[in-house]
Amino acid sequence: MSARQSGLSEDLGRIVGRDHVLTERERLLPYGHDESDLGDHLPEIVVRPRTAGEIAQVLKLCGNLGVPVTPSAARSGKSGGSLPVRGGVALSMERFDRILEIRREDLVGRAEAGVVTGDYMKAVEAVGLFYPPDPASLAFCTLGGNVAENAGGPRALKYGVTREYILGLEVVLPTGEILRVGKQTIKGVAGFDLTALFVGSEGLLGIVTEITTKLLPLPREVQTALCLFRDTAEASRAVSAVLAEGVLPRALEFIDDVAIAASAVARAPYQFPPGCGAAVLAEVDGNVPEACAREIERVGSVCERHGAIDVLLAQNESQRRDLWETRRRISINLKALHPLKISEDVAVPRSRIPDLVAEVQAIGRRLGLAVACYGHAGDGNLHANVLYDRPEERPRVDEAVADLLRAAIRLGGTITGEHGVGLAKKEFLELEQGKDVVALERRLKAFFDPAGILNPGKMFPGA
Ligand code: LAC
Ligand code: ZN
Repeated sequence: MSARQSGLSEDLGRIVGRDHVLTERERLLPYGHDESDLGDHLPEIVVRPRTAGEIAQVLKLCGNLGVPVTPSAARSGKSGGSLPVRGGVALSMERFDRILEIRREDLVGRAEAGVVTGDYMKAVEAVGLFYPPDPASLAFCTLGGNVAENAGGPRALKYGVTREYILGLEVVLPTGEILRVGKQTIKGVAGFDLTALFVGSEGLLGIVTEITTKLLPLPREVQTALCLFRDTAEASRAVSAVLAEGVLPRALEFIDDVAIAASAVARAPYQFPPGCGAAVLAEVDGNVPEACAREIERVGSVCERHGAIDVLLAQNESQRRDLWETRRRISINLKALHPLKISEDVAVPRSRIPDLVAEVQAIGRRLGLAVACYGHAGDGNLHANVLYDRPEERPRVDEAVADLLRAAIRLGGTITGEHGVGLAKKEFLELEQGKDVVALERRLKAFFDPAGILNPGKMFPGA
């Protein structure tokens, strides 16, 4: 242990308790890694505080010493936002794991930032309420991480992303002030919307400790259909056609031939039939069974008009679960085809999805790389994953990714629809937003974090 590490760990131990300061290499290892495939970046020390007051003291201490602090929780992020790229302290939110209240009559819930999103959903559903944001990692990602990245998910098509559900936050600023921003009411317009500023700020402006969310009544009916196609062009056109028909499913997911092949190799719970080269997974919800049945039938018949070879309606909860499990695991299962991959999450105006799919395939062909394309096509947000086998191929992969991001911008879209800029896309931020906007964002960062200690090396070009 270096002198700095040993002095700092003693001081941190006095704040959070010695059991919650980790310094041994084996215990640091997991905190150097996330789901972004951007390598290992070990912190020098991991600290696991339990209260906002402890976080404030940690930040003041590190601020005085100029030690970087990188917040993390489940480390399920896909843009490297929780990687301690400058070493220093990894501040883990794993002990902030309590659901504080669910107020049925107000349709409001409050939880600590380290609560697993899927656990919050279940607790809310147990009393007949609904928290719609459903990132594919919901079984292990946390509400705090979802707020930091403004996470989306399949249901964003009808219900919107995390931002739409966040009423208020407790935040610790890099300077150690503890603030409550936002409100506990559904409406409320007093002052600047600071809550909105913190949502999606990728852990650069403050550390969120407590989250108040809006809730909805739980829809009583859900119907799910899988529409099978011969090829990706037909399936991507069908997605646009469904929306043009005036139907708004709660999810409309696209799955291409490469993702289908990966699901077969990885023995996903649902196995696509031979001859199926693309699929659209659609789900509608509501309270009237007949109305839901009619809506899902409309989706099916639009898909059939656009070449679907079969439309399967989930007959029960277990079939529905298998379909969604197969969809949610695509990101992980793709590694069954090639061990290495870069996952992108560009979004384009939804009518441009067929163009985006065609661009992705052309980029893969030109560079001789397998590229899988799947995801939230209904809201224009596609996961193009560039697959490869050996680290030496990385320059070609980076070229493919750069081409893809440029294509998304050219089509009127964005470099990231839901995973964030983080480490992964910081060199492309100006390409999308322009120099002036990014300069303003840098000034905001410096205003909140004058010592530049909180999650350094992220989001800004050259950072
Ligand atoms: C998904 C993740 C990768 O939609 O966002 O599967
Ligand atoms: Zn996604």
